[in-house]
Amino acid sequence: MSDQNDLWASALAVREHAYAPYSTHRVGAAIIDEHDRLHVGCNVENAAYPAGNCAETSAIAAMIAAGGRRIKAIAVAGGVDGIDVCTPCGGCRQRMSEFADAQTRVWLADGNGGLTEHTVQELLPAGFSLKADSEGQ
Ligand code: THU
Repeated sequence: MSDQNDLWASALAVREHAYAPYSTHRVGAAIIDEHDRLHVGCNVENAAYPAGNCAETSAIAAMIAAGGRRIKAIAVAGGVDGIDVCTPCGGCRQRMSEFADAQTRVWLADGNGGLTEHTVQELLPAGFSLKADSEGQ
């Protein structure tokens, strides 16, 4: 199985653990870090809606807590059975850009049972950064 399929399988698996009683929109995310370690996260909602966390935020937090610092690739599985397209929210795009490069791959469902490859740069062009380099990621 390819790395991409492994990552996707992990995102689908953790999606099953999502706590989403309010939206019923389950999301799972899986990250490969710079040490080729896997980190996963799911959305965790709250009765006070803004207190909920997205799956990507949870996966990034797991990576950081495990000592990882860089996202080599990330997969996000959401929607019905993980087949529907679930693009990351703006806040998660910014969180990804903190720990990823401009060309870091982001794998999303394509809505037809397949996957599409995006980059962080495509998802967050001209994103905010305090770095002096021109990449902006
Ligand atoms: N959600 C994610 O976890 N990731 C995304 O990329 C988009 C949205 C969650 C937040 C909320 O729990 C639910 O999906 C509906 O917005």
